[in-house]
Amino acid sequence: MKKIKIGKLEINSYVYIPPMAGVTDLAFRKMIRLFDKETLIATEMVSSKALMYNPDQKIMKLSEDEHPVGIQLFGHEVDVMAKAALLAEAQGADFIDINMGCPAPKITKGKDGAALMKEPDLAVEIAKAVINAVKIPITVKMRLGWDECQKNAPDLAKRLEEVGVCAFTVHGRTREQGYTGSADWNAISEVKKIVSVPVFGNGDVRTPFDAQRLLETTGCDGVAIARATMGEPWLSKQINEYLRTGFFSPEPSVDEKVQLARIHLEELIKIKGEVVGIRESRRHLINYTKRLKNAAQVRAKIGQINSKGEAEELFLRLKEESLCQVN
Ligand SMILES: Cc1cc2nc3c(=O)[nH]c(=O)nc-3n(C[C@H](O)[C@H](O)[C@H](O)COP(=O)(O)O)c2cc1C
Repeated sequence: MKKIKIGKLEINSYVYIPPMAGVTDLAFRKMIRLFDKETLIATEMVSSKALMYNPDQKIMKLSEDEHPVGIQLFGHEVDVMAKAALLAEAQGADFIDINMGCPAPKITKGKDGAALMKEPDLAVEIAKAVINAVKIPITVKMRLGWDECQKNAPDLAKRLEEVGVCAFTVHGRTREQGYTGSADWNAISEVKKIVSVPVFGNGDVRTPFDAQRLLETTGCDGVAIARATMGEPWLSKQINEYLRTGFFSPEPSVDEKVQLARIHLEELIKIKGEVVGIRESRRHLINYTKRLKNAAQVRAKIGQINSKGEAEELFLRLKEESLCQVN
């Protein structure tokens, strides 16, 4: 395959696993790297403002063996974003992604996230300042626009490219849509047509076949896959295999999935301690059961675990009761 060039960064993968707050932490990223060393991946979004009060945020910690990895920043204050970018660069990030897509009211209430799409001049100023502050490439993640009447992704992307943004991820929904309806891949192609830097199309890709369809529909360089990777850390590898060869490896067996869930739990405990690690593991462990048959009861119990021992009992149940023939 042709490498995707994001500024000086060369990516040997069609896939980008974009930021997911509360999900793409160090433990999650480690799980992805068990299968795929080359996929582009990013941290959860990091508040540029919070970094000014506490520059040593755990959320920005990267491990040496997880590159290529980016740090996503959100914020709307030009100077603050530039200073935050310096801190992100010092952490060893390979790129910085600016969040112009988050639809959550607590983020957009200020001028952060998707609200920046309504303030294109400010969005450009921020990008310029961040680009000038650091040596690593800057990318932007955006939606189609604020709402149906303001779908300005192509115009904004063009302006951002002119000041030096090196790649875009475009989620094919407006801010108003949140996660409803389906992603409009045709609208993503309008951005791809207008810029010459790489574009990752994003929204509703769940399988290697979806990924191929998105690339064909949009002409994008790569595909960004968020939700479908939860509990399926092997997905990016399957997609790259499929796009390169027309074939992809089968998903892991039930035993292997249980072992992956166990590793994920252990990583979380290692990084965040027993109490927080167990609490945060619940959603991830549930995700590993998502395609297992008759797992509803165990899944509900996983949502309430309070210890590693309880998790182990449920892992055993998943296996012993053969609840989990793969669809
Ligand atoms: C739990 C969750 C957290 C997310 N957090 C972020 C975030 O921090 N920054 C961001 O740019 N997008 C965030 N997103 C949006 C995703 O990166 C992605 O654009 C969206 O889920 C659509 O892609 P998908 O259909 O592959 O899931 C989040 C999505 C989810 C489900």
